[in-house]
Amino acid sequence: MRTGEVTTRLYHHQTNQCRGGRRPDVPGFVPMDPSNQPQPFKRHLGAPVHPLPRDLPPTGPPAAATLSGRVPPSDPSIDGELLARLLFYSAGVTRTAGDNLWFRAAPSAGNLHPLEIYAAVTEVAGLDAGLYHFAPEVFGLEALAAGDHRRALADATADPDVAASPLALVVTGIPWRTAWKYAERGWRHVYWDAGTMLANLLSVAEGHGLPVRVRLGFVDAAVSRLLGVDGVTEFPLAVITCGRPTATAAAEPVELPPPQFAPTPLSPAPVDFPLVIGVQQAGELTTGDDVTGWRAAVGGLPRATDTVGAPVAAGSEPIESVILRRGSTRRMRRQLAPAELLHWAMSAATRAVPADAIPPGSTLLSHEVAVHAVHGTDPGLYQQVNGSPQLRRPAPEPKVRALSQRLCLDQPLGGDSAYTDFACADLDQVLDRYGERGYRVAQFEAGVAAGRLQLAAFTLGHGGTGLTFCDQDISDAFDTRAACMLAVAIGPPAYRSKPGGPPGRPRRITR
Ligand SMILES: Cc1cc2nc3c(=O)[nH]c(=O)nc-3n(C[C@H](O)[C@H](O)[C@H](O)COP(=O)(O)O)c2cc1C
Repeated sequence: MRTGEVTTRLYHHQTNQCRGGRRPDVPGFVPMDPSNQPQPFKRHLGAPVHPLPRDLPPTGPPAAATLSGRVPPSDPSIDGELLARLLFYSAGVTRTAGDNLWFRAAPSAGNLHPLEIYAAVTEVAGLDAGLYHFAPEVFGLEALAAGDHRRALADATADPDVAASPLALVVTGIPWRTAWKYAERGWRHVYWDAGTMLANLLSVAEGHGLPVRVRLGFVDAAVSRLLGVDGVTEFPLAVITCGRPTATAAAEPVELPPPQFAPTPLSPAPVDFPLVIGVQQAGELTTGDDVTGWRAAVGGLPRATDTVGAPVAAGSEPIESVILRRGSTRRMRRQLAPAELLHWAMSAATRAVPADAIPPGSTLLSHEVAVHAVHGTDPGLYQQVNGSPQLRRPAPEPKVRALSQRLCLDQPLGGDSAYTDFACADLDQVLDRYGERGYRVAQFEAGVAAGRLQLAAFTLGHGGTGLTFCDQDISDAFDTRAACMLAVAIGPPAYRSKPGGPPGRPRRITR
């Protein structure tokens, strides 16, 4: 076992819930201290802000076709409007409550949104080449540095295609935003939320025929340096290129000036969590050769499909409209759900993710599914195999519902759903093949599947929510050595949520 794997395993066990998780005390940490709450939006003092286009009515092919992977890539040229769509429908503000509660296009545990997005813009009509930071609350791009920064990103990702892509987005995580509530387990939330946000971004891009590729392998310190972040209180999670590589690659790295604009303070006294710092650093790669070697070693785990059959019951609503309607379902009705809500939605959710660390036709996850009330499917414990659920243990509906509720930390939604999906990863296999960075990939992929599953459920007029869970109890209940990465409850909602609003006009809701 390699040293870092010890760190990762220790982190995993110490942040387990219900059984086994024993975390050391962190000096100065008061959970959810209102006087030390992190700012939900990062800003750079004095940075000029370029407003983004706000007229972005939902458009594009049906969500069902998009989520099924059935929209052929057309490689549109990227302009300010398409960039605005990608950003708004993945990280934009869609609803507000009171004076200081913002809901966003993608779900986030505790509504804490620990993510930031940066854009290295080169060939985007209407925008000068440069490095920008997305400011969702004003729906604009803060201009951080002029010039073409693709070569630096290409070097950091050891991927020449990055230097030739019209647009690269970099997603970062600010662990204190979520650790403020979830302590060390907050590191997992950073990667889950990156996954749910990327589920939206990938879907919107697919809906517009825009090829997108996610890179989870990169020299962490080099990407941090480019963005002007310290790699500890804010660290890079993913580099995403949009559009097909063109013939005109950036040649030399642009000399980076020192960061010109100081970031706004996060909170009066941000707290560092040693386990979070440890698990993040255990997965770091330090040279381009490390990245290339890591990428060469990935793959070979169970298969995921790239394209699935679209459901017959879905209408023509575009994915962007589904994203606006989505909101985590707070109450579900114990009713029989149509078969497609299980069969199609799970297939769409577990489609291959276009990421360097997840080669085509593979996945790091297995899906253990507790089925409560789905037409044509007996209640019981299932495993999703090659796109369809295989019954492992039949059980009466009330018993499965009670088990699911218990596994979801006794939250009623876990048992009220039509089914609850537990995305799991065999950590022995993942760490053995991917090294410690594999833990990030498994958490991230579980987030993408969770985000897609909820979008698929809303496409069919149903509901869903991510749920926290009892780690070891899930492995025991499903008799698997795989560890749960994330739980999602899917089922008929007990109410209809009102759609979120467009950029600059979020819908006001009461909570
Ligand atoms: C990874 C993850 C875990 C979540 N866990 C829970 C949970 O345990 N219980 C719950 O009621 N909601 C949970 N949620 C839903 C969030 O509370 C919800 O996304 C957030 O309040 C924002 O609201 P919205 O999804 O309607 O935009 C979770 C969401 C995510 C993405």
